[in-house]
Amino acid sequence: MPQGATPGPGLCTEAEVYTLVHAFYANVRQDEVLGPIFNAHVNDWNLHLAKLVDFWSSILRRSGRFSSAPMPRHAALPGLSAALFQRWLRLFRENAAAQSNQAMSGLACATAERIAQSLWMGYQISRDPDAVPTELAGG
Ligand code: HEM
Repeated sequence: MPQGATPGPGLCTEAEVYTLVHAFYANVRQDEVLGPIFNAHVNDWNLHLAKLVDFWSSILRRSGRFSSAPMPRHAALPGLSAALFQRWLRLFRENAAAQSNQAMSGLACATAERIAQSLWMGYQISRDPDAVPTELAGG
């Protein structure tokens, strides 16, 4: 993460968050593996994108606009795997690297990594409480 990248309104603009999110999900929808999963579960892309802009704005700009619990939504999705989370993260990083505000991107990637780890942990525990959950390997 670039030095001094602290979340708040000084880190990035709403327009930069909007571009980060919309560019990422445009790539996701075209991805041959992730695309079909999202397209099978997201009925209203406008609503999904608006929610995700709120989510990232809350994290990056501390705008406090997102109030929801992503864990149960993901626990409900069949067939998620470590490989899928890794693929999601790789795409997220590639997209973040292409943004002009790299302070924002650095913080977004670090946060995405943490949330992916925690969603994957929660996913494994919710699916099979007796198994020992594994972490996502490597960054
Ligand atoms: C394998 C990786 C992932 C897949 C396949 C995936 C898929 C999905 C899908 C299909 C939805 C819509 C669910 C619904 O509306 O019922 C969703 C919602 C969401 N996802 Fe993911 N996701 C992944 C990873 C992540 C990660 C790493 C993050 C955060 C950094 C994230 C954040 C969110 C948020 C905030 C929502 C909205 C939750 C809500 O409506 O309350 N996802 N995801």
